[in-house]
This record gives sequence, C-alpha cells and structure tokens, in this order.
Amino acid sequence: MRKQIAAANWKMNLTLQQGEQLLNDIIATPHELKENQQVVFAVPFPYLAMAQQKVAGKKNVFIAAQNCYNKKSGAYTGETSVEMLQSLGISYVVLGHSERREYFNESNQFLAEKVNICLDYKMTPIFCCGEALNVREANEQNAFVAKQLEESLFHLDADAIQKVVIAYEPIWAIGTGKTATSEQAQEMHAHIRAAFAAKYGAAIADNITILYGGSVKGANAKELFGQPDVDGGLVGGASLIAQEFVAIISALK
Ligand code: 13P
Repeated sequence: MRKQIAAANWKMNLTLQQGEQLLNDIIATPHELKENQQVVFAVPFPYLAMAQQKVAGKKNVFIAAQNCYNKKSGAYTGETSVEMLQSLGISYVVLGHSERREYFNESNQFLAEKVNICLDYKMTPIFCCGEALNVREANEQNAFVAKQLEESLFHLDADAIQKVVIAYEPIWAIGTGKTATSEQAQEMHAHIRAAFAAKYGAAIADNITILYGGSVKGANAKELFGQPDVDGGLVGGASLIAQEFVAIISALK
C-alpha cells in the first residue's frame, strides 16, 4: 500500500518561538495515523534541530528540509549539504519547489543532481513539479510536467524511483486561494502515474506517492485526497495554522 502524506511547507515563515508553538499545538492533538500515513514538516533550516527533537519517537512523523545543495561538502558558503541534514536525523528534503525554480533558477538538470545526492544519503526527496498559468491556458500542462519528470528523475533505476515522493503543485494554485478542482488534480496525478508506468511498469508506478499542493485547506483536503491518485498534500499557508493542518492530517485516506 503506498504512503499517504500530509506535508507542511512553512516556507520562509515564523520565528523559532512561533514554530515551536505551532509544532507543540499540532503534536498535542492526537492523530490516529494508519500504518501507511505520515506527517511531514518542512521547516526552515535554522529550526531543523528543534523540530527534529520535537518529533523524536513520534511514529510516522518526520521533519524535512526545504532544500539542499548538490555537492557533498566544501567551499560553498551559505549552502547546506545532505550529509549535514542526515547528521540531524532528517529524512526528507523538498526539491524543486516552484519558488526555487523561479527565484533561484533551479533547472531540471540541477535538480537531477540534488535528487541523486539525496538518494545517495538515503534521504527521501519530495520532488515538486507543476506548470504556470500560461502553460495551463495553452493546455500544455501534461507535456510540461512530463518533461520535468523525465529530465530530473527518469535516469533513476526502478529501485531508486520508488524512494521518491512527487508533489504536483500547479503554480497558479500556490498561495492564490485558487485550488485546482479535484478533477484537475486527479487528471494530472493520473497522467504523472501513467508516465511512471510507461517508464517503469504499472506495479512500480502504483507504489509512488503523489501529493497535491496549491491552496490545500482543512475545508478542501478531504475532497482532494479522496481522488484515487492523490496521496495527500504539500501545504503552505494552511500548514501555519494548527487547527487547519490538523484537519488536513485527518483528511488523509
Ligand atoms: P499554499 O498552500 O500556500 O498554496 O502553498 C502551496 C505550496 O507551495 C506548498 O509547497
């Protein structure tokens, strides 16, 4: 049975004290997580150690970094290596978020290198893909997303690809309050799964967790996660409000 994940992406928000309070509030609420359900918090780098301590020993709850560098170590001032993350006990890394692609010019090729180094260190990449509004309006979203997957992931072998989590985040739905309809999300998730099936076979494609991101809230999570190919969400704004994120966690199927 493939993993279902409620993942919070705090982005560049909250102070240390606010982050600690938020985690306390969410963790204090009992969650009946099934064996295949996980909760992940992608927090800013300076809060990773605090967050990791908070979830230590909590079953099926993990901390993620929001980025990493593509090199092992060395003279790269200001960057963070996967080895550093691993030494903190971090197990997930968000890669290729559209904000990083846009503001930091991260290319599909560069992201392929980050995916590789994460897998070398047994970290799970949460690989983000998704199209901008003009691509959707031209009805070219399927080809656009397929190219992102091909150029960053399709060099992986059948064993490695199953260690990657996908997050489909249409850029036009991020932070806009304009959620993709559950039909639009399901359509793209089925397309992504079909692309993996064509490359790796149906059994492997069936094992890959595909999250939806873009204005997920407590009020729409159940409908979105109820779609057959939507395996949870990567949540920005609503993950900063304890009550909202708790509702999103309980919407996992
Ligand atoms: P919002 O949930 O704020 O739309 O952000 C989505 C996102 O970018 C998560 O990575």
